[in-house]
Parts: sequence; C-alpha cells; structure tokens
Amino acid sequence: MPRKLILDVDPGIDDAVAICMSLFDPNLEVVAVTSVGGNVPPQQAARNVQVILSQMDPPRWPRIGAATAPEHGLPTEGRRIFGPDGLGGVPFEAAVRRDLHPSEKVICDEVRAAPEAVTILALGPLTNIARAFLRDPQLPSVLGQLVIVGGTVSGPGNITPAAEFNIYCDPQAARAVFRAPCTKTLIPLDVTNRVELTLDILHRLPDENSRVGRFLRKILPATFRAYRQELGLESIRIHDVVGLVALTHPELFSFVEMAGDVETMGELTLGATVFDRRRVPAWRHNIAVATEVDKQGVIEEILRSLHAAAAASEL
Ligand code: RIB
Ligand code: CA
Repeated sequence: MPRKLILDVDPGIDDAVAICMSLFDPNLEVVAVTSVGGNVPPQQAARNVQVILSQMDPPRWPRIGAATAPEHGLPTEGRRIFGPDGLGGVPFEAAVRRDLHPSEKVICDEVRAAPEAVTILALGPLTNIARAFLRDPQLPSVLGQLVIVGGTVSGPGNITPAAEFNIYCDPQAARAVFRAPCTKTLIPLDVTNRVELTLDILHRLPDENSRVGRFLRKILPATFRAYRQELGLESIRIHDVVGLVALTHPELFSFVEMAGDVETMGELTLGATVFDRRRVPAWRHNIAVATEVDKQGVIEEILRSLHAAAAASEL
C-alpha cells in the first residue's frame, strides 16, 4: 500500500527535485502538493508547483494548495541561489490556475480524508502546517507523521549565524508546530549539509528522453552556477531531497529523540532551534532528530530514484 504523502513546498530547486522523485515513486501516493512562501513569494511558489507538475505530468495529479502571504514579510536576502523565479530562471510555460484553495485547507481536507494514514513532508517554512493546526485543532491527533526539513542542532544557520532558512521565515509557526501533539521528525542542516552533489552528478542524471531528465538538465546547471557565484562553492546541497530520502529510506540515517523549541524573540537568534541537551533535561522530548547520515548511500539512492522516475516519465 503506497504511503499517502503531502508535500508542503517553497520551490526552490531542491523542493522541485524532491517533488519529481516523489511523483513517480511507486511507494508513495502524493495526495497533495501545497505551496508556501519562502524561497520565493507565495504566488511564485504556487506558480512553480504548477510548472513542476505540468513538466512532470504524473499519472495521478495531486491536489494543489495555494500559498498565502504570512502575517509578516519574508526575508529577501540570501535566496538568490535559486534564481529570481526560484527555478533557476529557466523559462517554463504553465497553465496557472486561479481557483486553487488555500494550502492549509487542502492539508486539512487530505489528512481528514485518511485519518492517521497521511505523512506531511514540510520542505519550506511551517506557515501552512501551523495554519492547518489552527484551522482544525484536532488535526495533529489524526495526522500520521510530520517530517520537517530545517533547523540546526549544533551547526550554524544558513540565513543568519543562528537560524536555518525555513524556520527563520516563520519562527512563530515553527514554534507552534514543534509544540503540536503529533509524531514529528526533524532533518536539520547538520545532516542535510553533509550531502553535497559535485559537478560530475550532471553526467549521471537521466538523459533528455524523459520528462524528469529533461527538467533536471534544465534546472540543475543553474544551481551549480549560483552556488559558485553566490557562495564560491563547487558543489551544491539539496536539503529537501535529503529530507525525502530520510522519509523513504530511514535506514540511511540515525535519529535521536530530543526536546526542541524555536526562538521567536531574539535580535541575533530569531528562528534558532534550541534543544535541551543538558545532562538532566527539563524539557520533554517532542521530536525525533536526524543526527547521522550515510552520505554516499543517500547520493546513490537519489540517483536510483531519479532514474526510476525518468523510466516512468519517458517522452
Ligand atoms: O535551509 C534549506 C531550506 O530552505 C530548503 O528547504 C530550501 O529549499 C529552503 O526552503
Ligand atoms: Ca524548500
């Protein structure tokens, strides 16, 4: 029985690759792809989801949720890495629907439709998840599992010295989600930063005779260029894809139950994820955190999954 999955995304090229892999994974049934502002503004995120789905044209189209603006603004600095439109500036056509329901409504509908059977993979700021829990306060008790890409345990942030981007974009939402009574797993930067793709990966991608291969070969070169220009790095990180592999192949990771919370007030520490790792912790465990990863195993699984997706999406 395929696992029912909601992808909550702010595409973003690493979100896009994770979506491509999920749509053609026979072990997953993507029931919804809900957009959230983050790497790009909300409307662009909703457009990018529709671009990706149009490019992939999966056998079963998931429901799409429209991102709505957060109460506060989104950070603009430091997100040029995916290009002005979030997909590397590649000119994609897409029929953009104007009748989409808000992401939080789609999340509530789909979780309620399959109590305790749906997993949410949160690959962007946690705005939609927190709003869904506000809309339906019993939702955490009927949600199967929530897997979150973001935060840090002991490593540095990536948008500020203290904070990771997804948490930093909406710290209040992140705190509410960390405190929600549901099964949560966190895949932090400490782990996702260790999986680096070097340029040779471009020669190992599926060829252009498939929708997946054609799409990847358009968006990934732009990411390597951006990482080099913006960060001076010759390799790229695809945090969200690592998060997806943590969901589909947890055997490639180690997890530790922790007690975590989110800083919502700090001038320098806003959006930092804080964990009680004292010898005698006072906070109660509330989240399983990935602490180790088999880097090479994850890279091989990413390539296997992309080639399988390409075989299922031949032109
Ligand atoms: O910090 C990495 C995360 O922020 C990834 O999900 C990336 O897509 C951005 O959303
Ligand atoms: Ca993302």
